[in-house]
Amino acid sequence: MTNILSFLTLINVINVHFYFVHGFPKSDVDNFYNGASYPFPYFTRDEWEADIPMNVKPLAKPVPYVVIHHTYIPSACNTSEECFRAMRSMQNYHNSLGWGDIGYNYCIGSMGGVYEGRGWNSIGIHAGRANNFSVGICLIGDWRVATPPEEMLETTKKLISVGVENGSISPVYKLVGHNQTMATECPGPALFNIISKWDHYTKEILKF
Ligand SMILES: *[C@@H]1O[C@H](CO)[C@@H](O)[C@H](O)[C@H]1NC(C)=O
Ligand SMILES: *[C@@H]1O[C@H](CO)[C@@H](O)[C@H](O)[C@H]1NC(C)=O
Ligand SMILES: *[C@@H]1O[C@H](CO)[C@@H](O)[C@H](O)[C@H]1NC(C)=O
Ligand SMILES: *[C@@H]1O[C@H](CO)[C@@H](O)[C@H](O)[C@H]1NC(C)=O
Ligand SMILES: [Zn+2]
Repeated sequence: MTNILSFLTLINVINVHFYFVHGFPKSDVDNFYNGASYPFPYFTRDEWEADIPMNVKPLAKPVPYVVIHHTYIPSACNTSEECFRAMRSMQNYHNSLGWGDIGYNYCIGSMGGVYEGRGWNSIGIHAGRANNFSVGICLIGDWRVATPPEEMLETTKKLISVGVENGSISPVYKLVGHNQTMATECPGPALFNIISKWDHYTKEILKF
């Protein structure tokens, strides 16, 4: 009995150590997809406590375009809790505009975590007439002058690769900034200067 108790205590000590050193593992559990692990921390709608989407239209895949955004507001989020709040505030705002859900397909926080928006399967509301032909990825923060952290940029590239492997994004996709689909400052000059040097970037102005 004493042996079993000290064994259980040991297990608890190991667990406490694990949570303390490695963080609570919930996101690791959700970090699996189609039997494979996402190559970045991944947070589902349940984790950020999303409202039920009221506007779900199937996205025709693979999409030929990836549209990059910043948020301007909310500002950069540096912890998953801050990013959860940012996601909820965007969903509330977009719901108030009658969009029936957060507009973006995916969002990314400063630490490189991906936050599920409408996902791969639903048409987003983020780029006007380009919505039906694209996945909208937003890098949470104001990237007019400040440059996004490296983790955030690396995750953006990896998320696009996952979308290509997943059959959601065309292997010959074109990458554009939001301001190539309509008049807006988004994704901000600092972020624009970075993505405009990436593979697949096209100068094309999208008109449908
Ligand atoms: C996140 O980090 C950036 C850069 O260090 C900082 O400017 C910003 O205020 C931080 N955001 C919050 C919500 O603390
Ligand atoms: C986008 O797709 C939706 C759903 O399939 C359709 O109702 C809508 O007319 C399309 N819009 C454009 C601009 O193609
Ligand atoms: C891609 O991801 C979506 C969900 O986000 C899933 O429904 C779909 O089955 C995936 N497709 C492939 C080919 O893995
Ligand atoms: C988009 O923004 C960038 C950075 O400010 C600018 O250089 C580019 O000309 C803009 N593109 C369009 C089509 O307005
Ligand atoms: Zn935008």
